[in-house]
Parts: sequence; C-alpha cells; structure tokens
Amino acid sequence: MNKKIGMSLLAIFVAVVSFAQKAPGLAKTPPMGWNSWNIYACDITEDLVREVADAIVQRGLKDAGYEYVVIDDCWHGERDALGFITADPVKFPSGIKALADYIHSLGLKFGIYSDAGWTTCGGKPGSRGYEFQDAMKYAEWGVDYLKYDWCATDNLNAQGAYDTMLKALAKAGRPILFSLCEWGDNKPWLWAKDIGHMWRTTGDIYDDFYGELNHGTWSSWGVLNILDMQVGLRQYAGPGHWNDPDMMEVGNDLTVNESRAHFSMWCMIAAPLIAGTDIQHATEETIEILTNSEAISINQDALGIQGFKHSKKDSVEVWYKPLVDGNWAVCFLNRDSISKELNYNWAEKLIVDDFAKREINYSKESYTIRDVWTHTDLGKTNKPLKTTLPGHDVLMLQLSLSKK
Ligand code: GLA
Repeated sequence: MNKKIGMSLLAIFVAVVSFAQKAPGLAKTPPMGWNSWNIYACDITEDLVREVADAIVQRGLKDAGYEYVVIDDCWHGERDALGFITADPVKFPSGIKALADYIHSLGLKFGIYSDAGWTTCGGKPGSRGYEFQDAMKYAEWGVDYLKYDWCATDNLNAQGAYDTMLKALAKAGRPILFSLCEWGDNKPWLWAKDIGHMWRTTGDIYDDFYGELNHGTWSSWGVLNILDMQVGLRQYAGPGHWNDPDMMEVGNDLTVNESRAHFSMWCMIAAPLIAGTDIQHATEETIEILTNSEAISINQDALGIQGFKHSKKDSVEVWYKPLVDGNWAVCFLNRDSISKELNYNWAEKLIVDDFAKREINYSKESYTIRDVWTHTDLGKTNKPLKTTLPGHDVLMLQLSLSKK
C-alpha cells in the first residue's frame, strides 16, 4: 500500500471511530427551565420569548432555580445558499443571537430545538445532513441547550443519529446540554448515557391528569399515564443523565390539586423540571407550585436518585426517594378524584431500596416529618400518620433522620 493511501485510510479510520464526549459537568442535578411548546406550540416570536424570560425573573422562577429558556419547534426560516439555518425573519427579525444575548443578560441560559430527520415535527428544516453546520451555528449564536427531536427520520438508527449530533456539538466547541427526544421508541436509557444529558422516555404529555389523546398515528398522554410509564427506568438515571418524562403541564388545564400532584411526582422521580406554562399570566397558585423550594430541593438532591413506587392501596400510591444524609422524601399520591382517609403506620413498614442499597426500619430509626406543601412539621415517624388526602392530590413529606 502506498504511503498516501495509507494516510488517507488512517484519516478515515480516525474520523469514523473518533470519540466525542458530551459536554462535561452539565446537568449534575435534573435540568430546570422553561420550554415554549406546551403552551404556545408554533406561535412563538422573539418578543414573546423575551417577555417570558422577563417573567421568569420577575415571578421568582430564576431564583427558584429555573435556568434554561428553550424555544421549541417553529423558530426556523430557510437554509441559506450555503446550507446554514436561519431564523424565521418575521417571527424572529433580530435573529437568534440577539435573543440568546438578551436571555444571557438576564443571567439565564438559552436553548433551541431541532430534529434528527429531514424536517422537524412542525415541518421546518431538520438537521439531517446538516448536523455539523447546525451545531456550528448554535455555538455561534450562544446556544446552551439543544432539544433534538425524532420526526421524519425514516429508518435512521437512533443511536447513530444522536451520536452524529453529539460529535457535531463536540466539534462546535461550546458546552451544550443535549436533550434527546425520541419518545423512548428505541429505549435510549440503554444507550444514551454517554450521548445526552437527558432523554425522553415517552410520547408527548398533554394537559390532562389521566387520559389519552389519539392523533391517529400517535397519542399524547395524561400526567398519570406518563408517570406509569416510568416504572422500571430508575436505575438508568443519575447525575449527568436523566430520564425525561416530558415538560410539565403545571398550571395548564389541570386543577390546582392536579398541578401540585404533577409537580410533586416530577420532583420524586428526579425529572428535569421544564415548565410549559404561560409564566406571565399564571396564577399565584401556579407560581407557588413551580417555585416551592422544599419540593425543588427534593428534585435537586445531590444524590440524584430517582424515586420509586413502594406500594399502592385503594388508589393511593406511596413513593419513596432516597436523599443525602440518610434522609428520604415520601409522597402519597391519590389517583382517585375523591378524597381518601390515610392511616399510615410507619412502624409496620420496612422500606428496602435495592438500587440505592438503602433501607428504612422505622421500628429502629425515627425521622422527623416535614410537610413540603404546607411547610409545617408533622412530628415523628413513631406515631401513625392520619390525615385526609384530597382527590387527585398528594401529601409530600421530607423525612429527616433524627437521633432517637
Ligand atoms: C414532538 C416533541 C414535542 C415537541 C413537538 C414539536 O412531538 O415530542 O415535545 O417538541 O414535537 O413539534
């Protein structure tokens, strides 16, 4: 083999097997932010996104930890003569860089959306064949987060397609949180740990507590349906790589109880907390739910262990989540629309978490009980817990190990 051919083969080999790393150090705890899709779908403009970003600051979401402002589908214009993607000139006349700069000036981070296929789900230009050019543009614009969808992908291999975009992002040289959105179709929890920082586990959510919205070839799902689909996935999540049960519908077409239950469960399962609410006009109750620091600290706990369903009795589920320092979060979820009497005798329960290798033996240990929603202390686990649980609501508690 002559030397030139040998060198070319080596170059091809290096290009093909080159190992790209996802941006390190990001998403050590579940990412928090806001995304435009659930509430505005394709009706987004730069003015609207700026106003939302302002509201995120003014209404206390930034202080509560919400960081990423993500524009979803339909920001796109055409590709230019060289193939570079541009913004819709009518909806985003100042361009994406100006918007990203504005969001950064508020101390927030900026996210954008694309798709691994020919087009996005909204029919805009997808990244297929343009991955490196698109990643280069995102980096130039100051993008901090990319949600990467899965429409119009024909028979693409999912792992390969997401890996290609990972390589493109790595090459672009800006740390960009990579959010995979292939709806769990190819079990990304089995292969995406080193590719993305989070991956959707299911189809789309919609603003119903329990239900299915059939769109013909696919369905969107209510909050509890999505929650049920998370069972069996907790061992795949952890710091830097999270199961994503989709963006929240808190404050949308849900009752206050349902919104509280939805938010609590997303906290219990260490889900990314991406609000999908009209932040400017949301009620005070909705803002209180989204900014509850005690619930958020359970979600953001440094151990990064997803909670699990421990038991279910008469439509009340009991969920446990191990926390740092030997503490736990416990959440009683009433799936029924009518209230239930709760009589939970801690002493009779043995809680074994095989994954976290932790257990609670209430007859030997005592915990102080904090009600995360009323912000009150409820005594200790040495007495049975008796209360009424309203319909479609939760009792969410933090248990702190106390000296007996
Ligand atoms: C898919 C995604 C949604 C949203 C839309 C946009 O359905 O799963 O989250 O991004 O596309 O068209």
